Amino acid sequence: MMTVSTFQLLDGKRCGEALRARIAQEAAAVKAARGRAPHLAAVLVGNDGASRTYVESKVKACESVGFRSTLIRLPESTSEDELLVRVKQMNRDKELDGYIVQLPVPAHIDPEKVTLAIAADKDVDGFHPENIGRMVLGQPCFLPATPSGIVELLRFNHIETAGKHAVVVGRSHIVGTPMSILLSRNAYPGNCTVTIAHSRTRDLPSITRQADILVVAAGRPEMITADMVKDGAVVVDVGIHRVPDTSRKSGFRLIGDVKFDEVAPKCAWITPVPGGVGPMTITSLLLNTLKAAQR
Ligand code: GUN
Repeated sequence: MMTVSTFQLLDGKRCGEALRARIAQEAAAVKAARGRAPHLAAVLVGNDGASRTYVESKVKACESVGFRSTLIRLPESTSEDELLVRVKQMNRDKELDGYIVQLPVPAHIDPEKVTLAIAADKDVDGFHPENIGRMVLGQPCFLPATPSGIVELLRFNHIETAGKHAVVVGRSHIVGTPMSILLSRNAYPGNCTVTIAHSRTRDLPSITRQADILVVAAGRPEMITADMVKDGAVVVDVGIHRVPDTSRKSGFRLIGDVKFDEVAPKCAWITPVPGGVGPMTITSLLLNTLKAAQR
């Protein structure tokens, strides 16, 4: 079997920077027209370290494109009712274009109730059933950030998608399921024949080996090995995991759901971790916030 020895990186950092330059221009136009910049708020309940890092990078990204941002930190002990009161306040706040409640929320709060309480026209995460329904129907909506960022990454790199077999590993509500819908749409990027694989899939390697485009969002470190990938595939790795590494100052390094070193040489294109999907997710949130502000 022939192995493709040169692969190209689907560089989310570079693509994200290019898109953010455009977003910054449009944000300035919004500010000139409306007298205020697009404004995103992020609510963080509790002290989860990873969530704090994510939320802080979202807020920082807002600053980088000239958006206003508000970080609302609530204690772990916040009740569901208290959070719902805050959500309703934000729904009414005319100075706020969009907001997110970072997940996971503490166990005593029902995330579904919170998602339902967020006004669909401020739901820049695209998690509200109204936005998900609109996405399925191809109507104007806020698209969920990670799959939408992947679509933008494919577009930026002019990856051919029509007629390709896309295999999505993972069926979460926020990545795998919407990814499968976006890739099968009659659009570019899209027009793929899509298979969704999950924990009950039989003989996963035989399925992933059929993928022209393989999107892995299973949350299992380095589960995709070279024998599971077709020569010349486009591989998108959504996973991000910290593993201890004493050679790093931080004491850890980041790995994905794909065993990059052995898979990359077989690929036409592959996302690095970090620097692939991650920066695109945040860019999509900025795009949704801009869209909210432009209405
Ligand atoms: N937790 C992990 N990813 C996300 C996301 O995209 N949005 C929110 N609100 N929480 C998350």
